[in-house]
Amino acid sequence: MKAIEIKPNIFWVGALDWGVRDFHGYVTPNGTTYNNYLIVDEEVTLVDTVKDDFSKTMLDNIRNIIDPNRIEHIVINHIEPDHAGSLNTLMELIPQANLYLSEKGKRGLERHFDTSRWKIEVVKTGTTVKTGQKTLMFIETPMLHWPDSMMTYIPEDKLLISQDAFGQHYATTSRFDDEFTTQFSIYELEDAVKDYYANILMPFGKLIKSKIAEINKLGLEIDMIAPDHGIIWRKDPGKVLNLYLDMADGKTDERVVIIYDTMWKSTTRMTQPILLGVRDADMDAKVIKLRATPMSVAIKEFWKSRGCLLGTPTLNNIMFPSVAEFLTHLRGLRPKHRMVGAFGSFGWGGGAVREAYQEFKRMKLEIYEPGLEVMYRPSLEDEERLYQFGREFAMQVRAYHRKFQEASSTTARKA
Ligand code: FEO
Repeated sequence: MKAIEIKPNIFWVGALDWGVRDFHGYVTPNGTTYNNYLIVDEEVTLVDTVKDDFSKTMLDNIRNIIDPNRIEHIVINHIEPDHAGSLNTLMELIPQANLYLSEKGKRGLERHFDTSRWKIEVVKTGTTVKTGQKTLMFIETPMLHWPDSMMTYIPEDKLLISQDAFGQHYATTSRFDDEFTTQFSIYELEDAVKDYYANILMPFGKLIKSKIAEINKLGLEIDMIAPDHGIIWRKDPGKVLNLYLDMADGKTDERVVIIYDTMWKSTTRMTQPILLGVRDADMDAKVIKLRATPMSVAIKEFWKSRGCLLGTPTLNNIMFPSVAEFLTHLRGLRPKHRMVGAFGSFGWGGGAVREAYQEFKRMKLEIYEPGLEVMYRPSLEDEERLYQFGREFAMQVRAYHRKFQEASSTTARKA
């Protein structure tokens, strides 16, 4: 895609990656975009670069607007290679450029490139650089989502370039939120935001809230949020801010997901009566088989549901490996405000369900006990127990969800 003017003399000069499906382990069924922005002023600035494989695309986009040699300033909001990967190529062309980044960004950059000849200026929240008619103002956002992360604000245009935050892994010819007008496309965009949040930003809910509060305190007027991935929020930047605040507050749907794996289909058989029980309690439900589903999809489905039942066979007295892998991913993401329970089949001694509960307790999730284990195949009596297990779980999830909503609205009223 060619460069697009997003504000007067500010251009998107990034690249679309339709084909990427494995983004450092995160499955991206919709590809992604690497967004970066060229600010043409008396002194020209480039905010962020793109993944190295796309440096030619970025340079072609820049050349369609100006000679890259005119770039005097480069801002690196985040050093992860999908954003800083083309920096080496760029600095070979324009070694005289001034680089702006955070202290941690500088330290990280020195581990990736030979920066000894580069002119690097470390910036902090509130540091400004005047480029002519426009001003660059920096806002440090450490741990959103790396220690080096920061954002760049251009007050004259009320534009916040937000790096990974508010982004989506979503390759599309649309560049702006107002191009999503049908119910289906709006759902798809919001789902991409939730997917991104669940897999990358879930651990940082508290930080997100405090950073949004800090931005409000700084009194920054924002009428456009331009992230480094996906769609630019032009029509309604408040929408993505509210989506983030809701997710940071633990809001989700009154819904159950059954995430499981199986050895000889006994645990698969257990899911059927459980699912019936959940449905008979008038609760929406989804079933995910782990080895048939990318990990990032299972994580997203967990995040989108108030309750999760985890099914695991016992192998060598412990959890089935794919289930253990899922819980390891989940623990790293530090989920909150979700109710969980476990079930599974075993041949001799069992142990997987007990181990799953130990993991749930480590994660401090809301626990539904006891779990349910079945020896070998579920009998007719077992199926009845499983049905009741699913039904009771769904009713407990509903009660927990409503209690959570009540507590949230009380907090909101007090705020
Ligand atoms: Fe898009 Fe943290 O990289």
